[in-house]
This record gives sequence, C-alpha cells and structure tokens, in this order.
Amino acid sequence: MEFYDLIKTRESIRDYDPNKLVNESVLNRILEAGRLAPSASNRQPWTFVVASSKEKLEEVRQCYHKEWFKQAPHILVVVGDKSKSWVRGYDDYTSIETDLAIAMDYLILAAENEGVGTCWIIAYDYQKLAKAIGLKENEVIYCITPLGYPHDGFEKKNQKIRKSFEEVVRFI
Ligand SMILES: Cc1cc2nc3c(=O)[nH]c(=O)nc-3n(C[C@H](O)[C@H](O)[C@H](O)COP(=O)(O)O)c2cc1C
Repeated sequence: MEFYDLIKTRESIRDYDPNKLVNESVLNRILEAGRLAPSASNRQPWTFVVASSKEKLEEVRQCYHKEWFKQAPHILVVVGDKSKSWVRGYDDYTSIETDLAIAMDYLILAAENEGVGTCWIIAYDYQKLAKAIGLKENEVIYCITPLGYPHDGFEKKNQKIRKSFEEVVRFI
C-alpha cells in the first residue's frame, strides 16, 4: 500500500475472528519489520514474543478482559531488556521506551500493510502477562497487540478523530 494511504487507513481493530490465522510467512514479514526498526545506538534491546498456541493464548488472554481481545488468534508482546538499552551519560535517561515504541510502530504498520489487524494495548495486568510469557530478569513488557483478521462483514470506522493540523504543528 502507498505509505500515506496506509497511515490514513490504519486504525485500531477490536474485532478478531479466532479461526482466521495469520499465515507464517505473513507473520514473519511483520516481525522482520520490527527487527529492522532503528534504536538508540543500534542496541536493539527488544524481543518480540508471539503467542499462538491454544495453551499459551489461554494464559496470555487473562491479562486483558475484553472479549474481542480473547478472540485474537495471535498476541504479540513487545519486550525490552533495560540492561541492553542505551543510557544517556548526563542524567541516566534510558531510551528503552522510545526504542520499543518505534519497534511497535514498525510492527503495526507492517501488519496494516499485510491487511492484518492490530490494536496497541497497554491497559493489561502486567503481572499476569509477565507470568504468562515467562518474562526474564531485566526484561520489561512495553505493549501488546492482537494480530488477526476481523469477522466477515466487519467494516472499518474510516474516521480519524485527531486534533487539527494547526493545533499540533508549530513552525518557528
Ligand atoms: C500507547 C498506546 C496505548 C493504547 N492502549 C490501548 C488499550 O489498552 N486498549 C485499547 O483498546 N486501545 C488502546 N490503544 C489504542 C488507542 O485507543 C487508539 O490508537 C487511538 O484511540 C486512536 O485510534 P486509532 O488507532 O484507531 O487511529 C492504545 C494506543 C496507544 C498508542
């Protein structure tokens, strides 16, 4: 898809058909886009964890109590390792959240390009999710998204509720 069309038409999808799996090559292309994302000092402090098995999905689904979320056939968890991310010498600021946000955006835009629905989710129960995915020491979960296709007949809202251009841009 043309890049600006992709930006305009992507929206959060909250409707997933559990029987429509994302095939492996599509999944891999999406993950590859995340792998290619930039990061501070090129540290790439991330791991992309994909839950697709019935057993693992069962566990991961407990972290977010929305029915549409529980229908998704795949759940992608973007995990970061603080010990691997870049730290600014002046004030110890670490770039981990920025790095992971960029990776997540690459993943979401690549998914959109593949016609795969996503919804960036952050309002999950962190402890439940950490346990479900076997989070390691030093690792933090940054965000998750379902990956999948809506039920037949689903239509996108096709409306972008956003502040105006003038409100968010300042030329100086
Ligand atoms: C950092 C972040 C966290 C979000 N967390 C949630 C969430 O927990 N649950 C949810 O349904 N949507 C969540 N969203 C989706 C936003 O509500 C959505 O992106 C926003 O309303 C704009 O709509 P659009 O994605 O359809 O363009 C989140 C989005 C971002 C960027």
